[in-house]
Amino acid sequence: MLHQLEPVAVACDLSIPAERRLGVGIVGAGAIVDTAHLPAYRRAGLTIHGLYDRDLARAEEVGARHRVPVADSLQALLDDPAVQVIDIAVVASAQVEIALSAIAAGKHVLCQKPLAPTLEEAHLLVEAAREQGVQLAVNQQLRFDEGVAAARAMVEAGWIGAPTALTIDVDIATDWSAWPWLMETPRLEIMFHSIHYLDAIRDLFGDPERVHCVLGRRPGQGARGETRTAATLTFPGDKLAVVHSNHENIAGDHHARFRVDGSEGSIRGTFGLLYDYPHGRPDTVEVFSRTLPTDGWLPYPVTQRWIPDAFAGPIGSLMHAVAGGPPPRTAGADNLRTLAVVEALYESHENGDVRVPAYARVPA
Ligand SMILES: NC(=O)c1ccc[n+]([C@@H]2O[C@H](COP(=O)([O-])OP(=O)(O)OC[C@H]3O[C@@H](n4cnc5c(N)ncnc54)[C@H](O)[C@@H]3O)[C@@H](O)[C@H]2O)c1
Repeated sequence: MLHQLEPVAVACDLSIPAERRLGVGIVGAGAIVDTAHLPAYRRAGLTIHGLYDRDLARAEEVGARHRVPVADSLQALLDDPAVQVIDIAVVASAQVEIALSAIAAGKHVLCQKPLAPTLEEAHLLVEAAREQGVQLAVNQQLRFDEGVAAARAMVEAGWIGAPTALTIDVDIATDWSAWPWLMETPRLEIMFHSIHYLDAIRDLFGDPERVHCVLGRRPGQGARGETRTAATLTFPGDKLAVVHSNHENIAGDHHARFRVDGSEGSIRGTFGLLYDYPHGRPDTVEVFSRTLPTDGWLPYPVTQRWIPDAFAGPIGSLMHAVAGGPPPRTAGADNLRTLAVVEALYESHENGDVRVPAYARVPA
């Protein structure tokens, strides 16, 4: 049976061939660059030519720990011919301006999610990159996380037959105070967290036709924005996806599960990262298949983690595109569709309810 899992492991491979590797400059030396970007890029064999943060002391500290040189300005990175890709991970509101400067300087750009605070600004970035002839990709790395990538490979191999439903069920406690700027944002859960699930769902099921969404908060919660999302997405051909994501579980019984059902089987798993962010534990993935067939649930042996390993995915895919391959898997143009789903969910929450008639008005 193990040999049948081998093509799945190959599909999850994130190595970047030496001949495709480009020089990288990083803007932002915050938590995610420290814990994810830099460790993943080191493992992938990439060379970081400069790390810039407007908080220079922070850049010095992170740079020294990861042994990468620090740049004393954004312009210094943009002027450096060894820097071919600018990788941005700053507060979301500052990203558009930095990305536009990098594009204007002729650099390929990898942006963090969300690509931009509004669809209009995201469009602007995609257009600017197209006009300049550079690649623009978004760091939606959940697509490359081994649990999700393995599930996708199993679906593509036909192991669960025709896919019918995808369920994400996350119930955790997130300390948003680690990001003071997120504490204040009016749009929180979908824009900064569930955007990963929406992008991964699109990767597996394509673009949804209709969505419905309600958002929630816990009385007394610290963050201003929504902390619970309950959404359904429907797709052509009777497929559906359900996302329930809550960050205010105070009882301690945390879980982070995904499941894909099909006509001939199911795949179930867990997002290990979310059990102890940002250290986490490995994902789990199991498949039940009538076509293989399996005798009950067959575990797939996960060896890589969302943080840091999956972070090699978006930049590797961007470098493949620069080398003449297909567009990046998480290209800016594709990400506009993920952002459109984000917008649709917020709009549904505002306007999309069908009122249940008051009982008094229902005829007996
Ligand atoms: N899994 C993921 O993909 C993931 C996880 C966490 C955060 N993120 C995203 O990454 C980005 C950064 O998150 P973080 O956790 O590192 O935040 P952070 O608050 O820890 O760090 C942000 C850093 O950006 C720097 N900065 C702000 N404005 C700048 C500017 N104009 N120029 C240069 N530096 C600037 C700050 O000084 C700070 O060091 C955000 O967009 C966030 O949404 C993604």
